[in-house]
Amino acid sequence: MPATVILGAQWGDEGKGKISDVLAEEADIIARFQGGNNAGHTTVIGKDSYPLHLLPCGIFREGKWNLVGSGVVCDLPVLTQELMFAKPFGSHIMLDESAPIILPIHRILDAAREVAAGSSAIGTTRRGIGPAYSDFWLRRSVTLGDLRSRESVRTVLTRAKYWEEMFAIYASLAGENIDQKFLNINVHPMHLEDTIDWLMSFADQIVPHLGDTRAFVHRALDQRKNVLFEGAQGVLLDGYFGARRERTSSLCTTAGVSATFGVYAFDRVIGIAKAYATRVGAGPFPTELFDVRGEELRKRGHEFGTTTGRPRRCGWLDLPALRYACRVGGITELVITKLDVLTKFSGLLVCDTYVGMDPWTTLTGAVLEQAKPNLRHMPLWIGDLSACRQYGQLPQTAREYIVEIESGTGVVVSGIGVGAERNQILWR
Ligand code: IMP
Repeated sequence: MPATVILGAQWGDEGKGKISDVLAEEADIIARFQGGNNAGHTTVIGKDSYPLHLLPCGIFREGKWNLVGSGVVCDLPVLTQELMFAKPFGSHIMLDESAPIILPIHRILDAAREVAAGSSAIGTTRRGIGPAYSDFWLRRSVTLGDLRSRESVRTVLTRAKYWEEMFAIYASLAGENIDQKFLNINVHPMHLEDTIDWLMSFADQIVPHLGDTRAFVHRALDQRKNVLFEGAQGVLLDGYFGARRERTSSLCTTAGVSATFGVYAFDRVIGIAKAYATRVGAGPFPTELFDVRGEELRKRGHEFGTTTGRPRRCGWLDLPALRYACRVGGITELVITKLDVLTKFSGLLVCDTYVGMDPWTTLTGAVLEQAKPNLRHMPLWIGDLSACRQYGQLPQTAREYIVEIESGTGVVVSGIGVGAERNQILWR
C-alpha cells in the first residue's frame, strides 16, 4: 500500500469487489470515491456470496475503517440496509457529510428520460445516478450532513425554486404514469413534505456515521497507514473518457480519487480487467460477439448484472481499449480476472489493434463506433485452472495469454483470477 487504488479497466463488472476484498486484508482504510448503487460488487466468502452496492468491501473485516467519500451519490434505502447488514462483521463505517443523496425524483427522472429516449436509451441502471450528479454540479444537492436537521433539508429543497423546477421537468417528462412502475417506495416523488419525511426517516441510522472522510484519509496517510481506494464502474464508462452519451456520470479514473479525497500520489494503481470483455447498456463495443460464442461466454462467466440482472453483452478481450484505459486511467498494473472462464474455449481470439488506427488515438465513443478489430487466434489451454494457486502452475498457453496482455497494453499483470474464492487469485 499505503495509497492503493483499484479501478475498473473496462466497462465495469470486472470483478473489482473480489480484488478489493482480498487487498482489504492489508488495508487500514477502504474508501469508495465515486458512483452510487449503480455498482454491484459481489464478494464470495466460503459458501456465501454478499452483494454490495454502496459500502466498500472492507466491511467484512473486523476493525477496518470503511469510508463512503463525498464523490459517492447515496441511495438511502440501500445505504441503510447495507449499514444493518455490515453491523455483525464489526468494521467501522464513516460516511462523508458532503455526499449527495439520490432523491426519489432523481430515480423518476432517470427512468423517465430513458423512456423518452426510446430506441436511443442509454441503458442506465435507472438508479437516479445521472440526475443526482447533475444536481451536485448545479450546487443544490441534499447531502448526508443535511440529515442532521429537517430545516436544512427543507432549505435545500426549496431554495431558488428547486422544487418547482423539478416539478416542471417531471410533468413534461413523465406525469403521473411512471411512478409506481419505476419507484418502489412509499413516497410521491413530487410531494415536498412526504419527501422531507422520507429523508428524515433515515436520519437516525445515518447521522451516527457522519464524518470528515477527507481529514480522516489525510491523517492516516500522514501516519503511513494503508488506504485502499475502491473504484466502481470502469474507465471506459468514465464521465470524461467514456462515450458521449453511453457513460456514467462520475469519475472512474484516479482523477476520481483526487477529486473526492484530494490525494494525488499513489503507490499502486491496479486496473481490474476480465480475460474477455463485457458491457451492459448501450454503447460501442468493438469486439462484441453476436453468435453462440457470445452466448457461451455469458453462460460460462455468469454474465448477468449484479445490480439490474440484465444479461451482459460479451466479446473478445480488446487490448487497444484496455491500453487506452490504462493510459488515461493512471493504471500501473493489471489484475486479470476470470481466466478460468476461457479454458477449452475453442476458437479463442483477442483484438490486438484496430484496423488502420494510430494507437495513441483517443477512444471517444465516435472513434469506438468506427473501430474495426484486428483479431488474433490464441492457443487453447485444457487443464482446470481453478485449482492453480501459483502463476507457475498455469498451463503454458494460459501464461502466453497473460504475456499477450502485457505486450498489448505495456502494463504488467500482477495478479490473475481463476475462480470466485478469495484464494483463487494468483499473485506474481
Ligand atoms: P448509470 O450509471 O446508471 O447512469 O448508467 C450509465 C451507463 O453506465 C449504462 O450503460 C450502465 O449500464 C453503465 N453502468 C453503470 N454502472 C455500472 C456498473 O457498475 N457496471 C457496468 N455498467 C455500469
